[in-house]
Amino acid sequence: MFQMRRNRILRQSPAIRAMVAETILTPDDFIVPLFIDEGVGQVHEIPSMPDYYRRSLDGAVNEVKELWSLGIKCVLLFIKCSDDLKDNTGKEAWNPDGLMQRSIKAIKEAVPEMVVMTDVALDPYSIYGHDGIVDNGEIVNDPTVEALVRMSLSHARAGADFVAPSDMMDGRIGAIRSALEKDGFTKTGIMAYSAKYASCFYGPFRDALDSAPGFGDKKTYQMDYANRTEAVKEALMDVEEGADIVMVKPGLPYLDILREVKNAVQVPVSVYNISGEYAMIKAASRMGWIDENKAILETLTSFKRAGADLIATYFAKEAAKLLNA
Ligand code: PBG
Repeated sequence: MFQMRRNRILRQSPAIRAMVAETILTPDDFIVPLFIDEGVGQVHEIPSMPDYYRRSLDGAVNEVKELWSLGIKCVLLFIKCSDDLKDNTGKEAWNPDGLMQRSIKAIKEAVPEMVVMTDVALDPYSIYGHDGIVDNGEIVNDPTVEALVRMSLSHARAGADFVAPSDMMDGRIGAIRSALEKDGFTKTGIMAYSAKYASCFYGPFRDALDSAPGFGDKKTYQMDYANRTEAVKEALMDVEEGADIVMVKPGLPYLDILREVKNAVQVPVSVYNISGEYAMIKAASRMGWIDENKAILETLTSFKRAGADLIATYFAKEAAKLLNA
């Protein structure tokens, strides 16, 4: 008369639901992007990222201490380069006394156990706002890779635990790995942004760092959102070239890619819950249309369920507080 399986048995109480939950989110999963600016005592809310701030190094260091106290293990550093230091070579990117290098040192000194990852790409340093060197309107691959190698080595020298190339040039992971080996940085990891798509959802991030492309778009290096197989190819090649962690980016519109990559590689996979995804949840919650805290936990859990071992997210601090409560 009735089917012999009642699926609601496993959903009937919070205790049973907790026992059979397949995916558990913890602060160990989070990577916190930090936007760092020159100066002292500077705190700027990013207009298109409400409740998210760009801080001068003193404030960023305090923020890292607080994140550590909440159980968060990893930060990913981005700096805002002042306009007078920008050019087409990106040379400020490997200045040993540059803001990034000073930030790495200060944060490792303040909280040595915190895992420090650094963004490697030329866009914050480029007068053109592109991730690579521009020649005749073209973003040239091999000279850019040489610049990214210099940049990575300078981050390693300053004490970065992982460099995170987000530029999508060909061959950069292999080149960075050999250079790290050659210079004796045998403990420096590489988190490769392997499948990074040309996405409209990066807009608020470019506001935060004033790094929007001055001409054209990023479609000759970032991937076409129509493609899936290509993401697997990119991830497999980056693993082959020496990536320790591979990333899929953006997050929410790419959960299928995340699962595909997770199934294909034998290294940890990270996902970047990017600025536009953050802005959408913040905007809807400010309009009173969704419950922000619930939206955060549901979103972050969806990444883990889709296969993410690590999640870079601007919601990390709020999520850690919710999970610790
Ligand atoms: C640049 C970089 C971008 C992001 C991280 N590194 C933007 C871009 O490629 O234009 C986006 C992060 C976000 O939107 O949250 N190399």
